[in-house]
Amino acid sequence: MTESNKKYRILFVCLGNICRSPAAQGVMQRLVDERGLTDRFEIDSAGTSGYHDGDLPDRRMRVHARPRGYELTHRSRRVEGSDFEHFDLIVAMDSANAADLRRMAATVDEARKVVMMGDYIRLQRNHYDYVPDPYYEGSEGFELVLDLLEDACDNLLTQLLTSKT
Ligand code: 4NP
Repeated sequence: MTESNKKYRILFVCLGNICRSPAAQGVMQRLVDERGLTDRFEIDSAGTSGYHDGDLPDRRMRVHARPRGYELTHRSRRVEGSDFEHFDLIVAMDSANAADLRRMAATVDEARKVVMMGDYIRLQRNHYDYVPDPYYEGSEGFELVLDLLEDACDNLLTQLLTSKT
């Protein structure tokens, strides 16, 4: 966050890019918009798998996100090698995502861009230090993901703005 004229680019990553990471993208985009920082950030998301290439976010995630004010319209895509050059920070939802990403990185510097979303979670509920996959869960799983993402994104943005990341 040192060069004021350059956008800071954040990529959120999960397995399918239809539940957790597009929700994280929507939450973070609204936070930067609300704070008048739209021009200073580029926010995107992708998946490690490519299972759902081109799909909208999972209908259940869209249904749970909407009452909180998030319209999730991202189309799923797989992480690609150029993402490691383009983005400043690559935020993995769980440790499997992080391990896959670090394997994909071409250099040590690229691998260093990969961080864990769980490191930014402050909520003490159930002591989550990762964002659990809600795909095979019920409504509670989607609400939990959104609670964790709202908390972690707010903390991540605050840390970026105070240059701790
Ligand atoms: P996500 O959830 O990684 O949060 O998008 C999943 C979506 C799809 C699958 C697994 C997790 N799947 O196996 O198709």
